[in-house]
Amino acid sequence: MSVHEEQVKSTKKVFVETWGCQMNVADSESMLGMLKARAYETTDKAEEADLVLLNTCHIREKATHKVLSRLGTLRQVAEKNPKMKIAVTGCVAQAEGEKLLTKADNIDILVGPGKIHDLTKLIDQHAETGRPATALGFAKDRGAEGHIEPGPLNQPAGEKPTLSGKSEISRYVNIAQGCDNFCTFCVVPFTRGREVSRSPQEILNECQRLVAEGAREITLLGQNVNSYGLDLVRDHKLPETSEGPFVKLLRSVAELPELDRLRFTTSNPHDFTKPIADLFRTHRRLGRYIHLPVQAGNDEVLERMKRKVTVAEYWERIHWLRDVDPEIALSTDLIVGFPGETDEQFEDTLKLVEAVRYSFIYAFKYSPRKGTAAARFREQVPEEVKSKRLAALNAIQDRITLETNQAEIGRVREVLCHYQSKKEAGVYYGRTEQFRLVRIASPVDLIGRLVQAEITDCNKTALVGRLL
Ligand code: SAH
Ligand code: SF4
Ligand code: F3S
Repeated sequence: MSVHEEQVKSTKKVFVETWGCQMNVADSESMLGMLKARAYETTDKAEEADLVLLNTCHIREKATHKVLSRLGTLRQVAEKNPKMKIAVTGCVAQAEGEKLLTKADNIDILVGPGKIHDLTKLIDQHAETGRPATALGFAKDRGAEGHIEPGPLNQPAGEKPTLSGKSEISRYVNIAQGCDNFCTFCVVPFTRGREVSRSPQEILNECQRLVAEGAREITLLGQNVNSYGLDLVRDHKLPETSEGPFVKLLRSVAELPELDRLRFTTSNPHDFTKPIADLFRTHRRLGRYIHLPVQAGNDEVLERMKRKVTVAEYWERIHWLRDVDPEIALSTDLIVGFPGETDEQFEDTLKLVEAVRYSFIYAFKYSPRKGTAAARFREQVPEEVKSKRLAALNAIQDRITLETNQAEIGRVREVLCHYQSKKEAGVYYGRTEQFRLVRIASPVDLIGRLVQAEITDCNKTALVGRLL
């Protein structure tokens, strides 16, 4: 076979890097699904890729810088691999727009998160013209406009998890795009556009298909899952009900036979209602863990962030949940050094974290984002102060995380096993209903199985379980 024939016969390879939130992970899976239909396989080596996909995040500073530096290293890779095309997708693509093409000359395709379904069209367009092909902005009604469902991906032999890191056992399903909240620190409404919900039937069909393919856990995704469907009600596409469209959706997905666990994220406390909490009483398959981002423990700061809930209202939601199930695990996002945050106001955040006893937190230094309201606020907090606050906050939570893990020792937990250790034979990792990571040694394959395990040990990041 000539070299030419060999090239024609071989499938193409795509290398993906995904930064940012689960929405981006889900988008990467969607794009890989589309590429798979075009006979692409995934590779973990950019050196052999026909297409490199950088799915980027714009949430905090140096986002663009990080993309440009990655493009710089890829320029060297391209010297050895001249067939390689580069697509920049995700929130940096949308935020920077075509300006990015002037900052880096090796971008072949530029796609915003609202246009990922155009990817293959853009690949063709670039092949024809040899010039960068771009699609930015947002389709008006994405629910109807051919949402691409994530497909099962080609994996290197013997590897279960997808390249994006999710195992086939646990899958993400996007239920809504974008956000209408405009918290004053946040760039997401600019990079992802307004909130648009998919139809319940479309979501249910996708969940059914994933379960048929072997998924045992589904996580419904959106920037504010709790406000799911309110746009559809407003547009008379769904009837108005007292419990709201999200509760109805959760109920229908939770009742799918063969699904072991249903999770959802992110829950903005503002739209988190009592009927959502009450569902945990009747639906045992709802994972006993909720990510409930509070951002700060002080009402004045919350007000300036435009979070639309007070600390007291936040506690009310925690009580709804803990009244239903006292063991329900919580995590949160916190920003330190928001403009104008005083030492006393920051102390309120520390107090809140002590009092809630989260199982873990994501804490960030405030980072001004161009175009957002808070970037224009005066009294920006000095970097050293932010760093100090971040360290103090993390030190408190590290202790609490360890303590909450230690409290698991001696308990028997139901663990859904997701993947096998790459380093140690016969070692599996899974999660408890409360989302705690558990390491279990087993002579038999546990992937995809729900098992009972006695917790015997732990560190800050994981529990150790003994198979019962
Ligand atoms: N929709 C989710 C949050 C999505 S962004 C919600 O409202 O809860 C994820 C997290 O990034 C936020 O919760 C916040 O803690 C952090 N974040 C967003 N913008 C930020 C900024 N400008 N600086 C620092 N952290 C930020
Ligand atoms: Fe950003 Fe606020 Fe929307 Fe969350 S709710 S994505 S923090 S604007
Ligand atoms: Fe980042 Fe965009 Fe998600 S900015 S956090 S990838 S919505």
